[in-house]
Amino acid sequence: MKQRKLFIAGNWKMNKTATEAVQMVSALVKKVEGLSDKINMAVCPPFTALDRISSILKGSGIALGAQNLSDKASGAYTGEVSAAMLLELGVKYVIIGHSERRQYYGETDEIVSKKAKFALNAGLLPIVCVGETLQEREGNKTSNVITTQLKGSLSGITSDEMLKTTIAYEPVWAIGTGKTASPDQAQEVHALIRKLLTDLFGKAVAEKIIIQYGGSVKADNAKELMAKEDIDGALVGGASLDAEGFSALIKNAI
Ligand code: PGA
Repeated sequence: MKQRKLFIAGNWKMNKTATEAVQMVSALVKKVEGLSDKINMAVCPPFTALDRISSILKGSGIALGAQNLSDKASGAYTGEVSAAMLLELGVKYVIIGHSERRQYYGETDEIVSKKAKFALNAGLLPIVCVGETLQEREGNKTSNVITTQLKGSLSGITSDEMLKTTIAYEPVWAIGTGKTASPDQAQEVHALIRKLLTDLFGKAVAEKIIIQYGGSVKADNAKELMAKEDIDGALVGGASLDAEGFSALIKNAI
């Protein structure tokens, strides 16, 4: 039995209009009723759906998350969304440094750490993502890449802040490809992350941190992944988009 309570979050990416989001979440709430004692759950829809689904999630045990936030408080930053704007809508978590943000929008470890710090200062709980590409894995660079990303992305974070932070290990080659890291492959990196967290923040803190796995997690592979010692949940993309599949995944994970 794990000491850490599992945490499963759905990252919808750029999918679902607000109307579609309302339909999905209304169905999901019914399907996972009563499970929040056993598992922490969140959905991270696009910004445009946050407001409408916030009220549906109230009291459901499913938390609301966003997929990104600005590293500025307010002002002349066209297209950006601030922490205060998210908080007002009932957002609790925010995904930071997803590989798609790093790859397509130039987010560096430095930007990720700034955003994480900003989120924490504002009272949001960051889910900080790290992961290697296929080329890096094949070149035996996985541990170096993860070490650099993790240290850089958490730079300036205090131990107290770390306790409010979730890490998501998402190998880029497993995202949306149907290729999941094997439970052993994932566990190896999760153990490395926990060791790095121990070096940075001490054992007592590191033992409490939720490290999610992400990359083609589905209802039928969730259980074997969650069985691994250092895998404490999942960040789920494609399989979090429909209520039936996502609720089945959550139930299989417990
Ligand atoms: P996937 O995405 O589950 O569709 O592979 C995971 C993620 O990018 O968070």
